[in-house]
Amino acid sequence: MTIFTEKKQIQNYLRELKDKQFRIGFVPTMGALHQGHLSLVAEALRQNDYVVVSIFVNPTQFDNAADLKNYPRTLERDTQLLETVSKNVIIYAPEVSDMYGDQTKAEHFCFDGLEFEMEGRFREGHFDGVGTIVKRLFEIVKPDHAYFGQKDFQQLAIVKKLVEKYGIPVIIHGCPILREANGLALSSRNERLKPEYKNAAPFIFKTLKSAKKQFGTKSAKYVTEWVENAFRNQDLLELEYFIIADENTLKPVSRKSKTKTYRAFIVVYADDIRLIDNIALN
Ligand code: PAJ
Repeated sequence: MTIFTEKKQIQNYLRELKDKQFRIGFVPTMGALHQGHLSLVAEALRQNDYVVVSIFVNPTQFDNAADLKNYPRTLERDTQLLETVSKNVIIYAPEVSDMYGDQTKAEHFCFDGLEFEMEGRFREGHFDGVGTIVKRLFEIVKPDHAYFGQKDFQQLAIVKKLVEKYGIPVIIHGCPILREANGLALSSRNERLKPEYKNAAPFIFKTLKSAKKQFGTKSAKYVTEWVENAFRNQDLLELEYFIIADENTLKPVSRKSKTKTYRAFIVVYADDIRLIDNIALN
């Protein structure tokens, strides 16, 4: 497995591959890899000759010190996992100081309003942190294609906007959400769920599916209140938000229009663990 921690070294290595006209795919991650991440890597391998997987827990996108501290870090296991996937995977696992120097601070971005919705409202500064790190990683890796999960749908929209605004020459791919058999979206944070919360968590996707069904005939307001009520009757899971939004603007829908596509977005706390999910409604 080719693994780099130094920016200069990975840049030199990738330059040689690019000189030979190899196509480079890129999958940015924060590690604690699971099948969801691996599905992005598999898609990237289908469309590229080499795939860079970055593993970096980015401090500037966390608004909660405990969440950053508790975020699972399993570099050795991640490396072993990627080793089994393909020899054409290259790992880039930099140190915080390599990415940020002596000032671990995010740049400020304007994403034309996308940053003020949902996660932007509930996690202050989150998308400045994501924008900062993704832009830096793109500058280092200079991939032809980059792969992001629809699980973080708003992040995917923000990355597309980042690329458009800064004219970064990379094609962004949005990949489907991978789930456990019981419907729970795979997440690095699931590792920390205590058994009773793990048992309760499939309720999130079950509710999303039910919301989708209801949205066929009912208003967004009706469905939202139904979901809020369903969580009120749940002991272990605490709803942070449920929002039905226009898939393109991410603005909450007030009146349904036949020409628009909608998605339902949800965030739930299971104990102190924040779980995020969404579902297409059309
Ligand atoms: P992380 O949470 O590690 O996720 C890395 C990528 O995997 C993201 O694009 C995410 O949407 C995708 N992913 C996670 N769970 C998935 C699932 N169940 N199915 C499909 N894709 C899934 O997202 C980040 O890291 C960071 O914000 C990052 C972009 C790396 C910037 O720091």
